[in-house]
Amino acid sequence: MKQFGPFQFDPQNECLWHDGLQICVKPKPFSVLRYLVENPQRLVTQDELLDALWPETYVQPQVLRTYVLELRKLLGDDADNPRFIATVPKRGYRFLTEVTEIQAAAAGHSSVGNASHVSDAIVGRDRELQLLDELFKKAVCGERQIVFVTGEMGMGKTTLVDACSQSAREKAVVARGQSVEGLGGKEPYYPIVELLGSLLGSHGTSDPDREKRRQLFAQIAPGWSALIGNAPANGASTTWNRDRMLGELCEGLEALAADRPMLLIVEDLHWADSATLDFLCALVRRRSAARLMLLATFRPAEAATNPATLKQLKQDLVTRRLGTVIALRPIDEDSAATYLAQQLAQVAPGIPPSGVASFVHHQSEGNPLFMMAIVEHLLSQRLLVHAADTWRVRAPLPDVDVGVPADLAEMIELEIGQRSSREQRLLEAGAICGVVFPVWSAAAALGIGDLDAEEEYEALAGRIHFLHAAGHDELPDGSRSTFYVLSHRIYREVLYGRQPVARRSRAHLQVAARLQSLFAGRKANIAHELAAHFEAAGEWSNAAEALCASAENAIVRRSGSEAAAMLTRALELLQNLDAQQRAAREARIQKRIAGLATALNDKAAS
Ligand SMILES: Nc1ncnc2c1ncn2[C@@H]1O[C@H](COP(=O)(O)OP(=O)(O)O)[C@@H](O)[C@H]1O
Ligand SMILES: [Mg+2]
Repeated sequence: MKQFGPFQFDPQNECLWHDGLQICVKPKPFSVLRYLVENPQRLVTQDELLDALWPETYVQPQVLRTYVLELRKLLGDDADNPRFIATVPKRGYRFLTEVTEIQAAAAGHSSVGNASHVSDAIVGRDRELQLLDELFKKAVCGERQIVFVTGEMGMGKTTLVDACSQSAREKAVVARGQSVEGLGGKEPYYPIVELLGSLLGSHGTSDPDREKRRQLFAQIAPGWSALIGNAPANGASTTWNRDRMLGELCEGLEALAADRPMLLIVEDLHWADSATLDFLCALVRRRSAARLMLLATFRPAEAATNPATLKQLKQDLVTRRLGTVIALRPIDEDSAATYLAQQLAQVAPGIPPSGVASFVHHQSEGNPLFMMAIVEHLLSQRLLVHAADTWRVRAPLPDVDVGVPADLAEMIELEIGQRSSREQRLLEAGAICGVVFPVWSAAAALGIGDLDAEEEYEALAGRIHFLHAAGHDELPDGSRSTFYVLSHRIYREVLYGRQPVARRSRAHLQVAARLQSLFAGRKANIAHELAAHFEAAGEWSNAAEALCASAENAIVRRSGSEAAAMLTRALELLQNLDAQQRAAREARIQKRIAGLATALNDKAAS
């Protein structure tokens, strides 16, 4: 048993303890923690970690980050100000804390079973879990099942599948494989080979059930056994064609399922190779009874761009009633409240302050990954604090700028970084205007024609899950421009922040110029928007002028207080100019504000 800070780490029983409470850590993050704890206070590079933990498998560094994110959450660590795991940018990680060896008895608990369990309970997925349970029961009775769990990144596919596999373990053998971006799409049967490895592989060979499975599988599927290194080759694979391969694999798995029900999990099918999809298709179409359930996850938007025929496969299986689709939606506000209460309870007792749950839900738009990152951010930035036995927020919530929590920004950055450079530029140009942008503005930012841009964005929205068309705008010249929405504010912020300042400023000016030409003669309508672009480009004088125009417009609409706020802002912007440049204008604006104040007072008095 090892001790670091207030934690005890028990590698034999694969668990972690904090103050006598057992903390539930999923197997993969646990392996990462184990390696870090065994190699404390030195740089552990990403490659070293990946080689040490998954020598046989290609694991994306992105996945590693997710595990570290989970570990930080469990340890209550802060990425910006770490106590345990520090990120060494572009290199890897360093476990900062001293680790000491202790006796198990000294840790104050003798066995795994009798401690209360602190775990990240799944929230808001009761219906889905119940449906999975019903389908699994049918599978156990011999009615083979295929279930697709779909949802965007962070929507909780893996979490749901994990929960299902936990409860299935009592009755079934669970095997798992995962597709990965890049390599996985090119290497035939990549996730299936991983799945067979987890079912039959030689790690932890003392398991008698596994040995039995290996023998049975080798009898029925000798070619596959040879392929995954479980039996001598015997020349079988030379006489193999693809149909024979698929048939043998299906028969092998069915034979195993006859012995004990089986849950096969294939994750992230949107990156799967076509051989894997063919296999899934073949397995599901076989008519004989089999006590197996195949549980596959994918992101629908990415699936549309998979050159293999995943979408078709899904459609086909669902229309023939061979499969079930569970499409994960954002979780609701009550579930977000439960989640928040659970997370806070792990830190200290007390009821979450009112309004925090709805703030978190609103900010995350019900995406559990975003929700988790936002709660973590509120805690690590000490915006949500526990003092004098209660939880409090330190600033009025509407004023809290959650920005983009660092870990989340890193993950989104990775996601964006994997797109082509053209796709990145298109997304960045859209983000110049905001979460919602018309194509003409993005076209102006890019310096290309509107029609070309319309085509490019239409195609892009088909490939990018966080970009959606949202209607049309009719322009003064009679032409139409499509509106697009970035599905989450956080994407806009990352896309905006990653652009070099000089490029961003130029883009804002180009959009401003386009606004002025498109809406020539309707200056009042666009003054506010124009001011925002000038301000973002650092064109203080123009920005102040546009704000004054916008204020005049507000006065016409009889909104004196709005006008006063704009004029005050214009004054602030003028502070960026030297005194001589601004003197006359300042005096004029101040006079206008004073006039408005008098008018407002008169109105109040009357
Ligand atoms: N229903 C849920 N309740 C609580 N936490 C959740 C839930 N769904 C997901 N999470 C958390 O959000 C994070 C992302 O979820 P994950 O299952 O990995 O998403 P996906 O596989 O869809 O990308 C996980 O770390 C998990 O802890
Ligand atoms: Mg997942």
